[in-house]
Amino acid sequence: MNVLLIGSGGREHALAWKMAQSPRLRRLLSVPGNTGTGGYGQNVPFPLHDIEALVDLAQRESIDLLVVGPDNPLADGIVDRFVEAGIPAFGPKAAAARIESSKSFAKEVMAAAGVPTAQAHVFDSPAEAAAFARESGGPWVVKADGLALGKGVVVPDDLDGTLAAIAQLGATPAGSRLLLEERLSGREVSVLALCDGSRLVALPPARDHKRLGEGDLGPNTGGMGVVAPVDEVTPALLDQILNRCMRPVVAELAARGTPFRGVLYAGIILTAEGPKVLEFNARFGDPEAQAVLPLLEGDFLEVLYDCAVGGLNPEKLRRRRGYAVCVVLCAEGYPGKPRKGDLIRGVEALDEDQVLVFHAGTAVSPQGLCTSGGRVLGVTGLGPTLARARARAYEAAERIRFEGKHYRKDIGKG
Ligand code: AMP
Ligand code: GLY
Repeated sequence: MNVLLIGSGGREHALAWKMAQSPRLRRLLSVPGNTGTGGYGQNVPFPLHDIEALVDLAQRESIDLLVVGPDNPLADGIVDRFVEAGIPAFGPKAAAARIESSKSFAKEVMAAAGVPTAQAHVFDSPAEAAAFARESGGPWVVKADGLALGKGVVVPDDLDGTLAAIAQLGATPAGSRLLLEERLSGREVSVLALCDGSRLVALPPARDHKRLGEGDLGPNTGGMGVVAPVDEVTPALLDQILNRCMRPVVAELAARGTPFRGVLYAGIILTAEGPKVLEFNARFGDPEAQAVLPLLEGDFLEVLYDCAVGGLNPEKLRRRRGYAVCVVLCAEGYPGKPRKGDLIRGVEALDEDQVLVFHAGTAVSPQGLCTSGGRVLGVTGLGPTLARARARAYEAAERIRFEGKHYRKDIGKG
């Protein structure tokens, strides 16, 4: 099979690594790809927004399957165009990807499907949202409706913070529509499930660590580390999440004539009243993929293809025993303005069986491997226990060296 992979992060390196284990992979083209994906095929520097040109490229290169990593191309309809051109694509069409690209749409679908989630009020201007917040007197979680690179949510503690967040998010393109949500409390877990439009197969539940600082303090980031599986999510709880939070949404989208194919990622909060949905994403998480994919056995490429053509067979994917802990090594300045060009040492000496290193923001300079982005490398330790997986990830994280390297020391600590 010839595969075209879209994206350039650690997630895409993990996808390329996993697909390359399949005997059915003939050729991998990554657009634009990164140092990691380049190890399994060819990187093609191409603008992601030029979907017509991507379809032409795919036709010229006899691509059999498109696999989309990031959210923006999905919202822009890349899958719609590939399917029209007769090329199977893993990922939802734009109408189903709205479950991520519009939070008000997601709320409306959840309400129609009876899925437990925070109560929300939707406003078409910051002034209306602010008037409502003032009248209610209380703090509200403020969300921009559209895609905002993970920066579209503020959880303030009081009314002043709520008003400031309304002004801040209301001034962004994603915030032309705003949501005010009741604040829920509980531990969070990410449940990703492969979906072919009707059937769902859950991947091992994962826990992301989004804040920059240890103890979940400091600013939000794209994700500083992930643990999978999460023991708190027992098989019974996972079934409950699938049956109450995810299957009804998949059925609702199918009933509307916009079936969801791809990976449905539910951000779940475990409240005293049971699991509730914080958000849906229409793609693999980054760095969730770097922890979850190493826990899968079976022909992953074949399963992605089956999803794309609507014939997912749950038997083809098995869960490997043990744990994965992914620690993200960041560049000086991240999550603000990361410094680029610092030389990276110590990646070569790692043990592939126990430790996987996924490239995100790296580049090859004449001097060797160097940093080229905020999240530089994802280091995934594997082990029979969480403690072993953690220890392996951190041993490797210490051995890899570059100026300005920083990472959280408490991923998977409890
Ligand atoms: P989201 O992108 O919607 O998942 O929101 C990002 C983060 O904001 C979540 O992981 C939660 O930690 C927090 N959050 C979002 N919505 C709520 C809510 N209704 N109550 C409490 N925290 C929330
Ligand atoms: N790690 C969070 C996300 O991919 O949305």
